[in-house]
Order: sequence, then C-alpha cells, then structure tokens
Amino acid sequence: MKIAVAGTGYVGLVAGVCFAEMDHDVTCVDVDEKKVEVMRQGISPIYEEGLEELMQKNNAKGTLHFTTDYKEAYKDADAIFIGVGTPEMPDGSANLSYIATVSRQIAETVEKDCLVVVKSTVPVGTNDKVEQFIKDFLVHDVKVEVASNPEFLAQGTAVYDTLHAARIIIGTESREAEALLKKIYEPFNLPIVSVKRRSAEMIKYACNDFLALKISYMNDIANLCELVGADITDVAKGMSYDERIGARFLNAGIGFGGSCFPKDTKALKHLAREYGYQLKTVEACVDVNSAQKVRLFEKAKERMISFSGLKAAVLGLTFKAGTDDLREAPSIDNLKLLLAAGADVYAYDPKGEERARQLFPEGKLEQGTMSYVSDPYKALEGANICFVFTEWGEIKAITPEQFKSRMHTPLVYDGRNLYDPKQMKEAGVEYYSIGR
Ligand code: UGA
Repeated sequence: MKIAVAGTGYVGLVAGVCFAEMDHDVTCVDVDEKKVEVMRQGISPIYEEGLEELMQKNNAKGTLHFTTDYKEAYKDADAIFIGVGTPEMPDGSANLSYIATVSRQIAETVEKDCLVVVKSTVPVGTNDKVEQFIKDFLVHDVKVEVASNPEFLAQGTAVYDTLHAARIIIGTESREAEALLKKIYEPFNLPIVSVKRRSAEMIKYACNDFLALKISYMNDIANLCELVGADITDVAKGMSYDERIGARFLNAGIGFGGSCFPKDTKALKHLAREYGYQLKTVEACVDVNSAQKVRLFEKAKERMISFSGLKAAVLGLTFKAGTDDLREAPSIDNLKLLLAAGADVYAYDPKGEERARQLFPEGKLEQGTMSYVSDPYKALEGANICFVFTEWGEIKAITPEQFKSRMHTPLVYDGRNLYDPKQMKEAGVEYYSIGR
C-alpha cells in the first residue's frame, strides 16, 4: 500500500516508520528541509527508544522515504495520514490551522481516489469539516474520503505502543474506507475497533481525559492524605488490587504535563462549552492539576523566609522520564517561580537539558541565575534546597546519605515520591513529598 504521512512529530514519524516496518511504501512529508535531510540519514529529530534503529532499517529496505515535496508524496497515495500538531489556542480550544493547511495541499494535489486519515487529536466533528474542505478545494476529478484513526502512543514508549497497541480505533463513514484501513492495519495483527467517525474522535479525548482525571483524583486524595495522616503510596497500592480500578496511572505527584493531557482536557472542556454543556469533572481535573504543579513550591515558600541567593538543586526537567520533551512540564512553572524569587538554580536532566536551555538560558535570569550540571550530585553540592520534578532512574538512585552529605542544608521537596520518608528522616534529611 502506498502511504503518505503529513507531519513528522511523535505521531506522524512513529506511524510512518511503523507502517514502513510492515512493508507499506511510506513517504513522510515535512516542511523543514534540514529536518528531512537528517531523517533521510536515519537520525530521529526526537528521542524515542528504538525509533532510529527502525528508521535506518527501513530507509535501507527502501520502504521509508522523507521529503518536503508534498505534491510528489500525495498525488498517487492510497492513503494519506495527517499527524500534524493541534496545539492549544489561548482560549483552550484546539488550533486546527496545520490540519487546514495540509487538507488544502491534499485537495490541490491528489490525482487518484484516496483515503485521508486524521491521526492528530481533533475535536469531535473536525473530520466532517476536513472532508468538506478537501472536497471544496479538489482540483482533479477524484474521490477523497476522510477517516479518523486516533493515536494512543505515549512518549518514551512510542514505537512499542504502536507495534503492540491495545487496540486500533478506526472511525469511518463508508464500507470502502473501513476496508482500506483494516487492510493497512492487517499486518500489525492487533484488535481493531471500527466505529463511526465522530465516535472515534470522541474515544481519543475520552481516554486521555479519563487518565488525566485518574491522576488528578489521586493528587487530590494525596493532598487529603497529608491532612489526615494517611500515605498515598499505600492507598494507591490498596486500590490497585481492584481490577475495576487497575494498577496504572495511580501515581500521585507534581501534576501531569506533556503535549497531550493538559491540551486535551482543556480542549474537551472548551468543546463541551461550545455545545452549551459544562463538563464539570474535566474542569475540576484541570483546576486540580494547575494547583498541584506549584504545590511543592508553595510549601517551600512557607518554610523559607526568602529564596534570594539560595542554591536550589532542580533534579529532572522533562514532563516525565524517558523523553526529552518539556512541553507543559511542571518544572517550567516551578523554575519561573524560583528564578523570580531570586534563587540560583542548578538543574540536571539526562535528556531535557538542550530543550530547557532554549527556555531558560544559562546566566542571570529574572532575579536569580540559571546553571546546568551534567550529573545530579553536582547540583546537590552545597545546595540549600532541592526539588525533584522527574522520575529518572539516575535521580531515584541518589541515597538519603548522599543528599545529607552533599547539600549545605539537606532539605528535599520531591514531586515524584522517589524516596522512602523513613530512610530520609533517619539520614537526617528534611523531606517533603506528595501525600505522605
Ligand atoms: C498520553 C497518553 O498516555 C497516551 O495514551 C496518548 O496517546 C498521548 O497522551 C497522546 O495523546 O498523544 P504522554 O503524554 O506521552 O501520553 O504521557 P503519559 O505517560 O500518559 O504521562 C502524562 C503525564 O501524566 C506525565 O506528566 C506523567 O508524569 C503524568 N502521570 C502519569 C502521573 O502524574 N501519574 C501517573 O500515574 C501517570
């Protein structure tokens, strides 16, 4: 099957590479010439386990191509997958301008019947609009249909999640579209759930927002645990044995980040309001998360007279471990607050430093200063306070004794519950975590 993929971010690139792995003839399109050149050499623009190996393998096999020439890629494709971004607008709605640009390019270039498959997360009803938009601008006398095929991969495990997906959701409005998508996914040998287009679009939001709600619920319960003297880790463990609840996404912490949950909760809240409905559960989830992100800083503020001139070790910057992505990471909110309060921040992250430097360049920043260090122990050396924002293995490996011996004042605020409070206390570390 000849497949074109528009957009080479997490969704587009991983989908394209995995389709190529299944022996489809895939061309990935991106506007950025430099990025395309790098990908042609088998180098991934994003850090994702196993991705480069598959890129190189399929580049060599001849099933994977990269181009900026969308006309060439689209004109005779059997299916064109759209995986471009749908970032958040200031009002919380999804920005569909990239989808619109690609739709117009498709309309003006396709020379044979084809199926356009929207993989990007889009508000319910967008696929109808995309189909109409393409029809309005079609140049050649061909039949183009639009299908929804939401993506469920998580960053850090993107390739694995795609090749071993729990299910493939396809949303179509015709038997032909359904059959074509099933054929494309046949080699993956995964369960396929076929529904109508609007339901497929809704499944994506319903899943992400459910998981976000689950996290906010646990964060809310964690905050209550602190007040009543319970331990959220034990509470989560006790809950996890109930199969109706499940063991995953029960970790309380510094709040969820990333390019999906924050955006998709706000987008669904916005969509509901557009239809005159208030989605109270999701709205509460958004509010709980905003407060959670700065909870540790607020606690630390109560403890300190001032942060001015203090050495603050910041361990972990990315929104979770296993990725170099900083989008909506709780570390960003906290770094802004710390720097505005005059702290000298020494930050460590094994993968996120390069991206962090773009947001927080080294040197004088706001009232404080920003520095990056190559290992977590350097950050701790002589520090007056330490914040943990990401659950990287190398951060988890720090022992209570190391906090105690390296820091000037062993005072640790842990947003990921990585250490044992009892052991920290025994080692003489003043330790605050979430819900314990
Ligand atoms: C999420 C979903 O998990 C994917 O299924 C979905 O495809 C993706 O969004 C998307 O829409 O593209 P992702 O944002 O990569 O994936 O990361 P997650 O592993 O879900 O983590 C999201 C945030 O929740 C992170 O900040 C993480 O630290 C936080 N989290 C996760 C918790 O605070 N507690 C948990 O128990 C689990």
